[in-house]
Amino acid sequence: MRHFALSVVLCAALFGCTDKQDTESATAPVVDLGKSIAETQCAGCHGLDGRGVTPEIPHLAAQFEKYLLDSMIAYKEGRRTHAALRDMAASLSEKELQSVVSYYASLPPLKSEAGEVAQADILSPYEKGEAVASKCAGCHNQDGNSTIAGTPSLAGQQPLYLLNAMREYLDGSRMCTTPEKKELVTLLNRVDNESMALYYASQTPAQRPATAVGDAVAGEPLTASCGSCHGSHGVSHDATIPSLAAQDPDYLVNAISAYRDQIRVHDDMHQVLTKFSDEDIGDIAAFYATQVSRPAEADPLTIKELAERCDRCHGPAKDHLFVHPKIHGQQKTYLIKAMRDYLDEKRDNSMMHAMVSPYTSALIDSIAAWYSTQPAR
Ligand code: HEC
Ligand code: HEC
Ligand code: HEC
Ligand code: HEC
Repeated sequence: MRHFALSVVLCAALFGCTDKQDTESATAPVVDLGKSIAETQCAGCHGLDGRGVTPEIPHLAAQFEKYLLDSMIAYKEGRRTHAALRDMAASLSEKELQSVVSYYASLPPLKSEAGEVAQADILSPYEKGEAVASKCAGCHNQDGNSTIAGTPSLAGQQPLYLLNAMREYLDGSRMCTTPEKKELVTLLNRVDNESMALYYASQTPAQRPATAVGDAVAGEPLTASCGSCHGSHGVSHDATIPSLAAQDPDYLVNAISAYRDQIRVHDDMHQVLTKFSDEDIGDIAAFYATQVSRPAEADPLTIKELAERCDRCHGPAKDHLFVHPKIHGQQKTYLIKAMRDYLDEKRDNSMMHAMVSPYTSALIDSIAAWYSTQPAR
């Protein structure tokens, strides 16, 4: 009940909570039941114009009536959780509920807050990663094709492998060989890392010239046991296993030796590599370094292309179904929370679960920024 009182106080403070029409004319129209409920119970949080007053409160203006009603019933029945809404939904009669959601549904769409979201946020993770990569360009080059001997190329690399490597640097299970890098790694958040991984994965690996670290022809037969994991000619098709093709040869020598000597620990790798001499390792590195690689993510999506997948249900074409809520112009913070709730199974919707991927944080962030800045309809 405290929430009710709070909403009324907030409402009074923020909006005055007066019905202008009351004071305007002697023939005051019959105050619409829905509007009067909105004024006393909802406006403190959703405004009288249907605008959420804080970032985590959804806009209700122009939303489908049926969706709003279904949501209230979901709160009441506990399929969606929010204590204040559960209490309100339970205390309102069916008629009152119907009239208050009709009121909000009848309001004109709000102007979207395009100005409040940074332009740099309204990009797909693939595009956002470019800015993250600029911090790493001193060693890995902007497109991830490194030209410093001993520094690995990241261009075209499997994204989940890159993400795992960053996690290992951060938790200390993989050593950062340079202090500058170590500091950079700690400054990146999850969204940065996921975006970075997708950005590099979509870059084209440059072909490398012959190298002096070994004999590529002698190296090829030694790699017979590697292809089952690293792919034919070192082009991996598994998002967790790195491509070796077109990798920097000195880096390959270091990495293979490190696994063999258990400086870098990985059971699979240690077993397959114990039998190799330093010369063998040079030959293997020469072979892989000169193979042609290709981007692990060949089809980087723009934010518009990502959103098109959602518009299949949330676009105007599906408006006749009413069950797909309008999300254009909705609050960014609320959209993020709603998507998270689906993923965490706090809200039940099988389609939304399908979005779970290792890059979920970055995808959700980008998509929420996009929709929040689109004109509400
Ligand atoms: C104390 C603040 C508060 C008050 C008062 C309040 N709401 Fe909400 N409302 C919220 C928040 C926060 C959410 C988002 C909850 C969530 O994440 O599920 C929400 C969500 C909703 C939703 C779901 C919208 C969607 O897009 O899924 C509906 C419908 C709704 N409120 C209607 C109402 C109505 C009708 C009233 C008045 C009877 C009301 N609310 C009063 C805070 C409030
Ligand atoms: C000072 C130079 C330097 C900078 C700056 C740098 N790196 Fe590195 N990076 C390296 C070197 C050297 C290695 C290989 C040795 C190691 O693991 O430390 C490496 C390895 C990696 C690997 C593992 C690649 C593999 O194939 O296993 C990833 C991922 C990576 N860096 C990402 C980044 C990201 C992201 C940034 C920017 C935030 C960055 N690096 C900045 C030098 C650098
Ligand atoms: C059973 C699967 C498997 C086989 C077989 C295998 N690898 Fe690997 N390899 C992996 C995995 C998984 C990783 C990533 C390990 C990690 O995160 O440290 C890896 C990492 C590597 C790396 C580090 C790449 C980088 O970018 O840092 C090199 C180099 C490598 N393997 C070479 C080889 C060679 C050469 C062979 C064959 C002699 C081989 N691997 C066979 C699974 C395998
Ligand atoms: C197959 C149809 C379908 C697709 C595709 C789809 N959705 Fe949904 N979405 C729904 C339905 C149905 C609901 C309402 C479920 C409920 O009542 O909780 C919903 C609800 C939502 C909500 C909650 C809205 C609110 O006001 O609380 C958000 C946010 C959302 N979807 C975002 C997305 C995004 C982002 C995408 C694309 C990645 C997407 N949806 C793709 C069907 C779909």
